[in-house]
Parts: sequence; structure tokens; C-alpha cells
Amino acid sequence: EDPERLAAFEARVAADEYIEPNDWMPEAYRRTLVRQISQHAHSEIVGMLPEANWLTRAPSLKRKAILLAKIQDEGGHGLYLYCAAETLGTSREEMIEALHAGRAKYSTIFNYPTLNWADIGAIGWLVDGAAIMNQVPLQRTSYGPYARAMVRICKEESFHQRQGYDLLLTMVNGTPAQRAMAQDALNRWWWPALMMFGPPDDNSPNSAQSMRWRIKRETNDELRQKFVDATVPQAELLGLTVPDPDLRWNEERGHYDFGSINWDEFYAVVRGEGPVARERMDARRAAWDNGAWVRDAAAAFEAKRASRKAA
Ligand code: 3HC
Repeated sequence: EDPERLAAFEARVAADEYIEPNDWMPEAYRRTLVRQISQHAHSEIVGMLPEANWLTRAPSLKRKAILLAKIQDEGGHGLYLYCAAETLGTSREEMIEALHAGRAKYSTIFNYPTLNWADIGAIGWLVDGAAIMNQVPLQRTSYGPYARAMVRICKEESFHQRQGYDLLLTMVNGTPAQRAMAQDALNRWWWPALMMFGPPDDNSPNSAQSMRWRIKRETNDELRQKFVDATVPQAELLGLTVPDPDLRWNEERGHYDFGSINWDEFYAVVRGEGPVARERMDARRAAWDNGAWVRDAAAAFEAKRASRKAA
């Protein structure tokens, strides 16, 4: 890289300026942004699948309408983020191809099955709750289009988290069987939700550069700690027990101490060995293939409109 231009770029980032698509940027900045934003978009789209499983089984029309709205939001988040990534010179096809070929990742959390309705509450409360923790700082990420996409996404994530918590509140105030379902869902989703924040800071290859270039504003462990501190009191309000015998409030630190995460499980799921990873990729490939006619029709319509304009 041209050292002068790099120094000017780093001064702009250090001054909390937004970098815009037509600004000069180091190739490594562009590359890591395409990596992170496209994987964020993949996570939103794949994240629609676990919940879709319960759309037709929702216990009431109200719950079905809420879930429908949430799934629709996730699709919109994916589209914003693919568009933000395209401003960096990549294309939708390239990003989708990378996902289907297993070269691009999506959040590990979506490789776990949704076994019953309580899971829909646990996903909203814990998964979207973790996403909010991770995404609020991203509203100040140094790349302009990404930061701006985050503003609306964060507003909608708050609704997602709220409806999940409210769903579980209904269940814990229901029958003993419903309370047991809510506890079982917390038991299965708690640790995978902590893994959403990524590996520990001392084993996070992208963090140093992402922190220096203010793509990442807080580290994986800082955000994970914030999530635990905010969520444990909510579990207590629900009358549920967090499945971590080492969890305890540490007055000195002003944070909760918590047990160690099973990083072998994390890396196995990142490698694609999650419980329903295969089904998720099969569903995405099928959606892409079955949707080809829509893309072809849109392209044909566009070509016809352009030729009419030219005539
Ligand atoms: N699932 C899958 N891969 C993960 C992961 C996870 N939970 N956590 C980390 N990884 C991957 C990283 O992508 C990286 O691999 P790569 O270099 O091939 O991309 C590797 O593990 C090492 O991790 P690092 O900490 O070095 O990587 P990052 O600095 O990129 O940090 C991150 C990881 C915190 C997830 C960061 O990329 C990030 O903040 N991404 C944007 C937010 C996002 O993607 N959230 C997904 C949650 S789902 C969601 O928001 C949908 C909502 O509707 C619920």
C-alpha cells in the first residue's frame, strides 16, 4: 500500500470519520469488510430458517403474525447487508456462491434445531439479544454504508428480542409443562448464544486489525460479558435458571463471572458440523435454484424496459 495514503486513511478512521465507497481504502480493509458484511448477511438469511419451521405451528394468530413480521425483517436485514457489501465491489452472485461452496460462513447459532415453540422465544430473547449487543456498536463502524444499515437493523432487533422475551414470559406463567419447556430451551440455547460473539480475544485473528480500523468497536469478550450481565437478570425475572454452575455476580469486577465455553463445539460448528448444518445449506441452495426464474424474469423485464426506453 502507498504509505502516505495509508497514513491519511488511518488518521481519518482515528478521527471517527466514516469511510465511504468511493474513498481510498487499503485492500485489506475492503477484503475484511466484504468478509464480515457478507457473512453477517448470510447469517440473517440462514437465520430465517430455524423460525420458519414454527410459522405454521404457531399457537395463535397473534404469535404467527409476530413471527411472520420478524422473519420478514431478517430477510430485509440480509438484503441491506448484501447491498452494503456490494458497495465494496463484490456481487450478490459472488457472495451467494461463496456461501454455497462453503467458503463463507454464517453464524454458528443457526446450526441448532428448533425443537418446540419455546425455542422461538429463546431465539428472540437470546439470539436477537446477543445480536443487539454485537450490532449496537456496529452503528459506529468506520465503513459508512455498514454503519447506516445498522441503525434500522438495531431498531428492528429490539422488537425481535422483546417479542421473544414476552413469549417466554407467557410460557413461564403457563402450565408446569410450559415452564419446563422454557427452561429446556434456555438450557439448549444459552451456550450457543455466548458463542455468537466469536472466539476469545486471545484467539481472534481478525480483531486486532478490525479494532485498529474501527470496524469493530468492542472486542468479542467485552460484548459477550455485556450480554451475560444484561441477560442473567432477565432470566431471573422469568424464574429460569441459567445452565452454568459457575455463574456468579462478582462485586469487585462489577460483572458476572461465568463458566468456560466449549470451544471444541464452537470450532466444530464453524467447520460445518453443527446439528442441522447440512439441512440449512440444502435449504439455501434449493431456495437459490428454485428462485432462478424470479431473477430471470426480473432481468428480462429490465432488458425489455431498457430497450423500450432506447427505442
Ligand atoms: N459463527 C461463525 N463464524 C464465526 C463466529 C460465529 N459465531 N464467530 C467468529 N466466527 C469466525 C469469524 O468469521 C472468523 O472467520 P473468517 O476469518 O473466515 O471470517 C473466525 O471465526 C475468527 O473470528 P474473529 O473473532 O477473528 O472474527 P471477527 O473479528 O470477524 O469477529 C464476529 C466475529 C464478532 C461475528 C464479527 O464478524 C461480527 O461482529 N460480525 C457482524 C455481526 C454478525 O455477523 N452477527 C451474526 C449474528 S446473527 C444475526 O445478527 C442475525 C440476527 O437477526 C439474530
